Order: sequence, then structure tokens, then C-alpha cells
Amino acid sequence: MNTFNFNSVPNIISGPGKINELSNICLKNQIFKPLVITDSGIKEQGYVKILENIFSKKNIDASIFDEVKADPPEKNIFDAVYIAKKKKCDAIIGLGGGSSMDVAKAVSYFAINDKNIKDCYGVGKLTLKRMPLIQIPTTAGTGSEVTNIAIFTLESEQKMGIVDPLLYADHVILDANLTLNLPNTITAYSGIDAMVHAIEAYTTKLKKNPISDSLAKEALYLLGKNIKIVHREPNNIKARESMLLGSTLAGMAFTNAPCAGVHALAYPVGALFKVPHGLSNSLVLTEVIKFNANFAESMYLEIAGLCIPELKNKKIHINDFIDGIDNLIRDLKIPNKLKEVGVNHNDIPKLAEDAMKQERLLINNPVKIEYKNAVNIYEAIL
Ligand SMILES: [Fe+2]
Repeated sequence: MNTFNFNSVPNIISGPGKINELSNICLKNQIFKPLVITDSGIKEQGYVKILENIFSKKNIDASIFDEVKADPPEKNIFDAVYIAKKKKCDAIIGLGGGSSMDVAKAVSYFAINDKNIKDCYGVGKLTLKRMPLIQIPTTAGTGSEVTNIAIFTLESEQKMGIVDPLLYADHVILDANLTLNLPNTITAYSGIDAMVHAIEAYTTKLKKNPISDSLAKEALYLLGKNIKIVHREPNNIKARESMLLGSTLAGMAFTNAPCAGVHALAYPVGALFKVPHGLSNSLVLTEVIKFNANFAESMYLEIAGLCIPELKNKKIHINDFIDGIDNLIRDLKIPNKLKEVGVNHNDIPKLAEDAMKQERLLINNPVKIEYKNAVNIYEAIL
């Protein structure tokens, strides 16, 4: 067995209603003036009010930054840093999907470190320390609550990541009640994103390890079994709990055994055509699996029955797995052609060019993806 490193967050509190423990966590850690980082949609759904009620009972003076945008720009970080400094906040709380939690990670660092963000992109570039950080996901997908990665969109539309152990949160609260209001499309997109995290972690080339493998398998068991149920029955709290836990386990897996070709090819589609992250992953998923199949077939077959419960305990071929994923995407009513999100034939060279810039991800793919391969993959799903 190869040597490996595995890191994760030190404290996860899981269960419906556990959001009520937030004030106790704060007080125990001498947090009296947290800054909550979220988006306007989360605020409209009443979740900010829930936090404010929890805080007011314990005289915790929270500030709110609710301007996080999808695929967050760097501006979101520095607008929130301004508030954190002005209000003399003593902790950062991310509340929402991956965008809010990624901004929260960066704010916890830049609010107390006078660094140029351009020097921080890449792996292991952060130094010193960050503010206390609590993450509370309201979607079951990104796994951002347990990852050490924060992704931002530059003005050039390129996505850049800060990856550093310093970005692991101190505390994570998984309360499935906060995922009950998710619209069906977001439930489907984010559920597929979580599955992609586990699939890519399990098949990753350089840092595959037994702990991430175990987490990825359990994640796929939970996600595969429940993704169609939550799509059909949005108020099924048991299924929502399983999806949230599955998403977190997938996050713990891929932060140690990183994502690869699916994410590399999905990012340009997301950035250039403003496509939600889970949808862009879903669009390229089956074609990347086909491309990888010759090199990763045995690994895909090991997880096929977990991803697609109908394939469990059956003698299957790689095509059964690919068809199963295809059918799942159709059952969830997710678009499966690039044209459906506005991509034309002429856009493909630019998409492939940008995909090649995702070196951080491409090096993890089971087989090398070159420019012409990326073009062919995009052509196949046009
Ligand atoms: Fe993702």
C-alpha cells in the first residue's frame, strides 16, 4: 500500500435540529461577534432569521454579509473582509451552498492576514493563521463544509482555487432541516455533484487512499440510494439526511483524493455559460467516464452498484454503468446536451483551451486528457 496523508475537520455535529447548538459552540469557543456569510436567497428562505434568533437568546452579536454570488468573485471576499474588520468580528460562519462556504473560508484568512490573493492561489500557499471558522451547509452537494478548497471566479472568467489545510473549518453543523426548501433542480444538480466528488475521489490517480475510498463508497451508497427519493419527495427528511451526510463524506474523500477530469471539463462550461456547477458536472460526466473507461474500468465497476442500486449484485459490463448514470441524469430531468445551456460548435475550442488550464484537476485523472481529447468529449455532448 502506498503511503498517504489524510486530513479532515475536527468536529462534525450531525442531525435534524442541530443548528440549535450553534450558540453553545460559539460560547464554548469564546465567539461573541461572528460574521455570517451567506447569499440573498438563503436570507429570503428565513435561515438567517433562524440564526439571529439562536444568537439573540445568548446575547451573541452577529453581523450578516448576504451578498455572496454564485461562482463567487474575489470582490465578495473583500467586501466581507471589510465588514469583519469594521465590526471587529471574532469568527466567520459560512451558511449556504459551496459559494458562501468558500467565501467564508477566504474571509477567515484575509480578515486577519494582509496578503495579496494572487499569491494565495494554488496548493499550500497560505501561512500564519485564520479566524475561527464554522460551516453550515444548506445544500447536499459541494461538500465544501469539509474541504480545504475555496474556488473563485476571476474577471477573466477563469476559476482559481486556494487549497490549504488552513481552510478546514473548526466546526461543521449538518442539519438536514436546512435542506428541505431546496428547489428540485438544485437538489438534482447538487446531488450529482456530490456523486461526482465520490466517483472522482475513488478513481483519482495520484492520491487515492484507503480512507478516501471507504468514504467515497459510503457516500455513493447513501447518494445512489436516496437521490431519486429526494427528487420525488422533497420533504423526506430521512432521505435528505442521507443526502447531506453522503455529500459530506464525498467532500471528506475528495479533499484528500482530489477531483479530476469531470471537474476540469465542467469548470469552463460553468464559467463561460453561467451554468450551475452540478449541472456542468452532470453534462460532461458520462463522456469523461467513457474516455477513462479503458484505464479505470475495474474501479468504476467496484462502485457501479453503489451509484446505481439497480446494478447491485448483478454481473455487469462498463456500459451498464455508463447507461445507468445516463438514465439517472434523465430520471432527474437534468439537461444532457451542451446546446441546452447555450453552447455552440464554435465555443468548443475555447472550452477545451480553458479546460487545459485546470492542471490542478487534470493531473488526477486516471488517463491524460489532452486538448484534442477535450474537444472530442465536448463534441460528443454538444
Ligand atoms: Fe464539485
